[in-house]
Amino acid sequence: MTSKWIHNFNAGPAALPLEVLEDIQTHFLNYGGSGMSITEISHRSKWFDDIINDAVARTKRLLNIGDDFRVLFLQGGASLQFCMIPMNFLADGQSADYVDTGTWSTKAIKEAQSMNKTVRVAASSADRNYIYIPGDISFDPAAAYVHITSNNTIKGTQWPQYPATSGTPLVADMSSDIMSRPFDVAPFGLIYAGAQKNIGPSGVCMVIVREDMLKNIPDNLPTMLNYNTYAAKNSMYNTPPCFGVYTVQLVLKWLEETIGGLDKMAAINAAKAGKLYAFLDASDFYRATAEPGSRSLMNVTFRLAAEELEKRFVEEALAHDLGGLKGHRSVGGCRASIYNATTMEAVETLLDFMQDFAAKNG
Ligand SMILES: Cc1ncc(COP(=O)(O)O)c(C=O)c1O
Repeated sequence: MTSKWIHNFNAGPAALPLEVLEDIQTHFLNYGGSGMSITEISHRSKWFDDIINDAVARTKRLLNIGDDFRVLFLQGGASLQFCMIPMNFLADGQSADYVDTGTWSTKAIKEAQSMNKTVRVAASSADRNYIYIPGDISFDPAAAYVHITSNNTIKGTQWPQYPATSGTPLVADMSSDIMSRPFDVAPFGLIYAGAQKNIGPSGVCMVIVREDMLKNIPDNLPTMLNYNTYAAKNSMYNTPPCFGVYTVQLVLKWLEETIGGLDKMAAINAAKAGKLYAFLDASDFYRATAEPGSRSLMNVTFRLAAEELEKRFVEEALAHDLGGLKGHRSVGGCRASIYNATTMEAVETLLDFMQDFAAKNG
C-alpha cells in the first residue's frame, strides 16, 4: 500500500499522461456543463458525438491518414481482433501470411487456425526465443494479407521498419506502440491496438481500416464480429466503451497539443530508450535480452545474473517508488515499459536506482 504516486513501468494497463488524468478528474462530475459525469451521459448525445468525432479526427491528423481509412472503436480488446481479422478478410480458398515474433503473434496465428483458416507462417524468430525481428521475408504474392505484431510487448522487440509486401495489405497489431512514432499508413489494410498501453484505458480497441477492405466482408458474419457494423454507425451500433473513447480522445489531444505530434513523441521515446539501452550495454550486472537492431523502444527487457536477484531488484525498486518492473510471467526477468506517458524523469530515476542496486549487489 502506498499513499503517494509512483513511477509506473507497467506493461499494460500502463501509465497515462498526468495532464490527462487531471483533466478527467477535474471534469468527472460535470462533463462539458452537462451536469452529469462522462460515465453517465448517453452515447447518443451531442457531447459524446463530439468526443468520438474528435478522437477520429485527431487519429487521422496524428497519423496523417486520409478519408480512405476509417477509425473505429471496438470492445473485446486486441485479442478479439485475432479472430475478427480472418473472419472478415480470409475467405475459403484464400491464405494469409503471418510473421511469428512471439506470444501475441503466435496467439493471432492459433486463433486463425482454430477457425480452419489457411495461414502460412512466412517467417518466425522462434529459433532464438523471439529475441529478434526476422528480415528478408518472402511473402506469398497471393496472400489475402500479411499479419505482423509491430511491437512485441513480452519479448521486448519492435519492427524497426515494416516489411515490403508488394501491394499485399499489411495488417498490424500495434497494441503496444501505436502513436509512439510516425509511419506511412499506405501499405496497411488494417491496424488494431488495445488502448491500454499507449492511448487509454482497457476496454477499448482502436481499429484503423482501409475503406476498400470493407467491401468484400462476408455478410453472414455475426453482427458484432463484422467491421461493417462499426463502420456504418461510427462505432455506435450498440453502446460503445464511452469512458475509454473519451480517455483516448484526451490522450490524442495531449499528443497533438502538449507533445506537438508524433515526430516529437518519437524523438522523446528514442531518447528515453536510448538512455536505458546504453546503460544496459555498458553494464556487466544487467543484460538486455533483445538483439540490437530489433529492440523495442517501448518495452525494455533485461536480466540479472540470477532469478533471486531479479526478484529482489523488483521488490527494492518498488520500495523506491518504481513500479511494474517484473518481466511477463511467461518469460521472467525484468521489463521497463516506457510508453509515451513515461517521462524522461521517470527513466532517469530508474537509471539512478539501477546504478545503486548494481553497486550494492555486484
Ligand atoms: C502486442 C499485444 N497484442 C495483443 C495483446 C492483448 O490485448 P488485449 O488484452 O486487449 O486483448 C497485448 C496485451 O498485452 C499485446 O501486448
